[in-house]
Amino acid sequence: MTEASPTWLVTGGAGFIGSNFVLGRRAAKAARIINLDKLTYAGNLRNLEPLKDDPDHLFVHGDISDPALVAELLERHRPQAVVNFAAESHVDRSIYGPQVFIQTNVVGTLQLLEESRHYWENLPSADQEKFRFLHVSTDEVYGSLNLDDPPFSETTPYAPNSPYAASKAASDHLVRAYHRTYGLPTLITNCSNNYGPLQFPEKLIPLMILNGLQGKPLPIYGDGKNIRDWLYVTDHCEALALVLQQGRVGETYNIGGASELTNLEVVTAICGILDELRPDSPFLPHSSLITYVKDRLGHDRRYAIETAKIANELGWRPRESFSSGLAATVRWYLAHRDWVESVQTGEYQQWLKKHYGGAPQPTGTERNSCIR
Ligand code: NAD
Ligand code: DAU
Repeated sequence: MTEASPTWLVTGGAGFIGSNFVLGRRAAKAARIINLDKLTYAGNLRNLEPLKDDPDHLFVHGDISDPALVAELLERHRPQAVVNFAAESHVDRSIYGPQVFIQTNVVGTLQLLEESRHYWENLPSADQEKFRFLHVSTDEVYGSLNLDDPPFSETTPYAPNSPYAASKAASDHLVRAYHRTYGLPTLITNCSNNYGPLQFPEKLIPLMILNGLQGKPLPIYGDGKNIRDWLYVTDHCEALALVLQQGRVGETYNIGGASELTNLEVVTAICGILDELRPDSPFLPHSSLITYVKDRLGHDRRYAIETAKIANELGWRPRESFSSGLAATVRWYLAHRDWVESVQTGEYQQWLKKHYGGAPQPTGTERNSCIR
């Protein structure tokens, strides 16, 4: 790297969005990256294999809740930015066990803020001006929309409904408070549902692709009419890079794909792509695998995002349409069987068993389980 190139401390950069961000930013030679990740079940060093010989990517195995480690990394590498992806991210897991969500998403973010503040306060004033703390958050902090409600904007009041969403809301409030109280130059982004390569197959889209390929049931919660606004992961990463470099300090930017779809529409689209790409499959049509199962507790009905602020201020727009992004995603999972096998190990099998049982149970066999 040249002397002028910045260094960024990226946390959670072995997870789905973090690794896509790190790979994209290193391909663009945008910054030297120190990548701090705890390698939970969701973190995967295979995601970072293309960078194994890259001298400007340094992976550090550790926890954002470890103040000594974070302070040491800041002092040694003198970053111009901290980009915080590290989190527990799966709503269903937060329903079984909220504690780890509070520990990482709230306490961990607080520790990261506190060490970043100490570091920033001791920088020369020209470097203080340039420093940024970018916190990557979610649209789930805003709660749930009815079908006729306007989409979430940056001024929508917070109303988180799951333990995951509540922990992310708390972390957003802490980031805001560190800006208002101490002047730390923060930025917050709240993004809708991401999909694309390298997503752990506990989430809807990769779970359905892999179950479909294996002829397993495709478990749809409740009536399948819950709506999410889908964004291809590299579009999210481009938005984050823009916010980091050009966003106004202290501001929040919402990011979304303008692709509102019901879960049933998403799963049906995946089945159509699998039918086309696997015409000899014994499981045709893949849509015959769709199975309605017990609904998620507190299941948010609809998310939708108003993106006027980031579009008007920073000129961001998603490049990928849902149909092109979904086809690329299915192809990626078909082409990366090694990666898939590496993540479908013990912990993943235990999760499937705990959450779905041996195989997902149709709602007809459940009591009071379906909202249809
Ligand atoms: P992910 O679960 O795939 O990855 C999280 C990463 O954080 C993993 O690599 C994990 O090892 C690491 N991690 C967890 N606890 C840690 C700790 N204490 N210290 C250091 N590293 C730790 O998550 P993702 O889907 O890539 O989401 C990344 C961020 O983006 C999260 O903050 C999430 O809330 C947010 N977000 C996700 C989405 C989405 O659709 N996936 C949408 C909007 C916002
Ligand atoms: O909106 C942004 C959020 O999107 C992120 O903050 C979260 O980290 C990310 O996990 C995602 O949350 P969701 O709960 O919306 O994503 P998930 O893929 O778990 O579920 C998407 C929808 O699909 C949701 O309505 C629940 C439903 N679903 C999910 C699974 C795993 C099913 O019907 N069946 C399933 O087996």
